[in-house]
Amino acid sequence: MRRTMVAGNWKMYGTRASVAELLSGLGQLALPDSVDVAVIPPSLFINQAIAELHGTSIAVGAQNCAVEANQGALTGEIASSQLVDAGCTLVLVGHSERRQVIGETDEVLCRKFAAAQASGLVPVLCIGETLEQREAGKTLEVVGAQLSSVIAAVGIEAFTSAVVAYEPVWAIGTGLTASPQQAQEVHAAIRSQLAKESAEVARGVRLLYGGSVKAANAVELFGMPDIDGGLIGGASLNADEFGAICRAAGN
Ligand code: 13P
Repeated sequence: MRRTMVAGNWKMYGTRASVAELLSGLGQLALPDSVDVAVIPPSLFINQAIAELHGTSIAVGAQNCAVEANQGALTGEIASSQLVDAGCTLVLVGHSERRQVIGETDEVLCRKFAAAQASGLVPVLCIGETLEQREAGKTLEVVGAQLSSVIAAVGIEAFTSAVVAYEPVWAIGTGLTASPQQAQEVHAAIRSQLAKESAEVARGVRLLYGGSVKAANAVELFGMPDIDGGLIGGASLNADEFGAICRAAGN
């Protein structure tokens, strides 16, 4: 059975004071044992999160890593091995904000995926279509192409220790959530695409949904057969709301 996972992507939010308050709230949450919970702060706050969450069941991840696994002369980047050294266990790869705003290409994010795994981090590969692509009926084609470029680069077996997050771009930070049926349709397509390469890998890989998940819509989304949890943005900045989403995942 796949364990449910809920990860909070804090994006570029937080000050020392607000992060201290959020971490203190997270530390007090009663979380379901059946759910893997993680937070993904800006890199500036990773050490603080690891120190404050020590002794809890909450894992800490990073939002990005370098294309190289090992430390070296690469100004402004953080190597996946450095993230492991700090205590991170996962890293986002290919978030739509990085694809669209930073211009991260499939080639670059495939290298990051491989670097992350070479260091022992679990990459959380983010894929999703824009509104324009959905309205043109191209959702499955776009998401399928994003996934196949990574399968081609790293091989299907790499997905035994990776997570895939389906995040429709039009649902991120907009308050527009994909309906459970819309999300399930894409999740099922992702799983069947993986199954064409390996039925076993496809059965085991966790597929998270991201895009305006809140406590109020989490139960329905997480109830779908191919949705194994969520990647939460805005709602993860509030400890109580995030805790409620984690509990919804535990139901
Ligand atoms: P929101 O939950 O704020 O829509 O963000 C989703 C997201 O991008 C998580 O990575």
